[in-house]
Amino acid sequence: MDIDEKKIVDIEEEIRSLQLDSADTTEMIAEDNNGVVNAEDEIAQHEELEKVDKMEEDSKEVVHNQAVEVEKKVKEKENSALDDEAAFEKELPKKRHLNVVFIGHVDAGKSTTGGQILFLSGQVDDRTIQKYEKEAKDKSRESWYMAYIMDTNEEERVKGKTVEVGRAHFETEMTRFTILDAPGHKSYVPNMISGASQADVGVLVISARKGEFETGYERGGQTREHVQLAKTLGVSKLLVVVNKMDDPTVNWSKERYDEIESKMTPFLKLSGYNVKKDVQFLPISGLIGTNMKTRVDKSVCSWWGGPCLFEALDATEIPQRDPKGPFRMPIIDKFKDMGTVVMGKVESGSVREGDSMVVMPNKAHVKVLAVFCDEDKVKRAGPGENVRVRLSGVEEEDILSGFVLSSISRPIPSVSEFEAQLQILELLDNAIFTAGYKAVLHIHAVVEECEIVELLQQIDPKTKKPMKRKVLFVKNGAFVVCRVQVNNLICIEKFSDFPQLGRFTLRTEGKTVAVGKVTGLNLSSA
Ligand code: GTP
Ligand code: MG
Repeated sequence: MDIDEKKIVDIEEEIRSLQLDSADTTEMIAEDNNGVVNAEDEIAQHEELEKVDKMEEDSKEVVHNQAVEVEKKVKEKENSALDDEAAFEKELPKKRHLNVVFIGHVDAGKSTTGGQILFLSGQVDDRTIQKYEKEAKDKSRESWYMAYIMDTNEEERVKGKTVEVGRAHFETEMTRFTILDAPGHKSYVPNMISGASQADVGVLVISARKGEFETGYERGGQTREHVQLAKTLGVSKLLVVVNKMDDPTVNWSKERYDEIESKMTPFLKLSGYNVKKDVQFLPISGLIGTNMKTRVDKSVCSWWGGPCLFEALDATEIPQRDPKGPFRMPIIDKFKDMGTVVMGKVESGSVREGDSMVVMPNKAHVKVLAVFCDEDKVKRAGPGENVRVRLSGVEEEDILSGFVLSSISRPIPSVSEFEAQLQILELLDNAIFTAGYKAVLHIHAVVEECEIVELLQQIDPKTKKPMKRKVLFVKNGAFVVCRVQVNNLICIEKFSDFPQLGRFTLRTEGKTVAVGKVTGLNLSSA
């Protein structure tokens, strides 16, 4: 093994040891129904028993009758709870649900591919496509008509660039999917981060067109940045679709496909993906819809014997989350609609109509009036689901994105200071990283200015152990443990407890400079 190879292997291992691997879930302490329903039952039972206590002076017979009555009531309650549970189970959708984020460099074909998926799964009819074809032509963007399915606002259609994360749903035989179509342009990376933080699976779209793969893959190109962000944000599986295979400069060339795969593979490894287990490559044409719902015809592409996109999506496995864990839902958006409606992805636990919960960090006690999954009202939603929850007890203006809807018995901690292990990726102008460094912290739905207040230890990339000597500054590529402060209270968790709520990125002037995980919470800073 030559030195360079060894270096890469070392760095790879280092990244793994940083445990930025989302499969690294930690066991959570199981808790029944957020502790809420049970607590109520307990109170009810307790009250009944108190009644019994009062009767003690009465005749034995009366006491006996009362006790029988109490027992009956408790039994009834238990039975109705069981019925409820059975009803919930029945209502739970039989298909599993996956959130898929489309990422990749600007113009790679994310919206086109997303739009094509909706067309192929029968959600958009020919008439609508014809309408979009005309609209795209009028805007001199003929080839963008498929992207118009996902790019719904005027600015996006005129410029041919996604700005807001598009959201849509489709189903295969086995799975219900929520598609999140992220923008590729570098100005909108914060929107991409919010999209990726809601997803378990990423479709990394790469343009095979001559010159386009190269621009996306260059330093500063979003192919690289999106991959690093996706890994940090918890996207555990990647389907790398080599798109625009129909383009005249590509023409389904195996050579071009192999070139892209061989260049991407070491980079994906460096970013922390286990390429054998977590990554799958496949060729497609999003515009024409080839190798998407059905496998590409041999007359078009003789050398591809692998799956089509729908098959590959259907076959992705993601780590199971605990439906009985303490409830955690970072709020990504909110609006008023017969109460306050909050939107987000359930990261742990379950939510059901009638639950009492708390919004952190402002500790607002709320009642769940209704739960919506996709467009449907449901009685209960579990981890991994993207939901809208209607609440009473809190005003819409008192909620900010990044707040977390939590169970009352184990609310999420809120802090203004925490300890973290960081990997410095690329500092602006190769600056040095010292105490006093300011950046924007992105952690689940939180976006906050932060300051590094102290570097605690540098980690030796070779031995993976903390170095003894005091560290005052570090440079690109370094691993360092430090103390981070924010001005407002934020709700986060230790990475080892809840990976999704404990991993973050630091960005400066629109560039991702570091990724990291929370290793300690300064609870006295709350
Ligand atoms: P942003 O949202 O700006 O990041 O771009 P995007 O990745 O969503 O790309 P979009 O779908 O808007 O497509 C950009 C251009 O690439 C459009 O002109 C599409 O017609 C073209 N395109 C997308 N997929 C294909 C494909 O499979 N083949 C060919 N030939 N062109 C494609
Ligand atoms: Mg787009």
